[in-house]
Amino acid sequence: MIDLNAKYENVLAALRTQIPFEPEICIVLGSGLGDFADKVETVKSIPTSSLPNYPKSTVQGHNGYLHFAKYAGKKLLIVQGRIHFYEGYKLSECLIPVHIAAKLSSKLILLTNAAGGINPNFEPGNLMLINSFNGIQIKKEITEVLGLASLDAKNNFLDFPSKLFNNRIKQAALEEKIILKEGVYFFTKGPSYETPAEIKMMQKFGGDAVGMSTYHEAVYASYMKMKVGAISCITNFAAGLSPTKLTHSEVMETAELVKKDFERLVKKVIELV
Ligand code: HPA
Repeated sequence: MIDLNAKYENVLAALRTQIPFEPEICIVLGSGLGDFADKVETVKSIPTSSLPNYPKSTVQGHNGYLHFAKYAGKKLLIVQGRIHFYEGYKLSECLIPVHIAAKLSSKLILLTNAAGGINPNFEPGNLMLINSFNGIQIKKEITEVLGLASLDAKNNFLDFPSKLFNNRIKQAALEEKIILKEGVYFFTKGPSYETPAEIKMMQKFGGDAVGMSTYHEAVYASYMKMKVGAISCITNFAAGLSPTKLTHSEVMETAELVKKDFERLVKKVIELV
């Protein structure tokens, strides 16, 4: 078993000497959605490269910063620069931002991502509230971090994602008049995008959107007793559902188009939670 408390003790010690406050809400920004960090009052931005042992984010659109910020009177930790399996990192490394948020006493975490749309009613540019996850591919890795079937780990999914949080996200969308789809996020480790056959399988297994992040962060956050909310930005039709070839630039371009709605939605969510 991997003990994240021991693994990240020195990162937390380094952080505690410089943070302006303990955040109430942590927001993890997905691919292309990093601009949100500029839309709120930043009190202190810490480059993750200045922190000991912090994995380096290698993906375009994922600059590594921990922003301590304020909005609507709430204290925020905004994570810009996620760590992914497809960059060659292990689960324990991917979980570092969530571990930091939990240890700094955040009670809520809003996870956001870019995802491919599997549900035929979705199109690029839609925002989707994640109402459940399929992460069957990495149950083994999860066990290595959470331990074997401890009572806590077993009873982890009674309110997951948090109903209260999700209701607030729906309310925020209504108030801001933003169309919010809803569905199941199907996780894959990558590194490549899916084949059309894999997407057909995910569709049969109830997936509405597909992506390479978030699932494990949500599981660990819930294990660390945080309330989890999660939103996907549907950036493309999943493989086989459109004749064009999927690229990271397409993902980034669509995220760019949605970012105004995304910003309004997330700001309203912060006001309401
Ligand atoms: N598949 C996996 N991850 C993704 C996709 C996709 O279609 N779009 C954005 N992230």
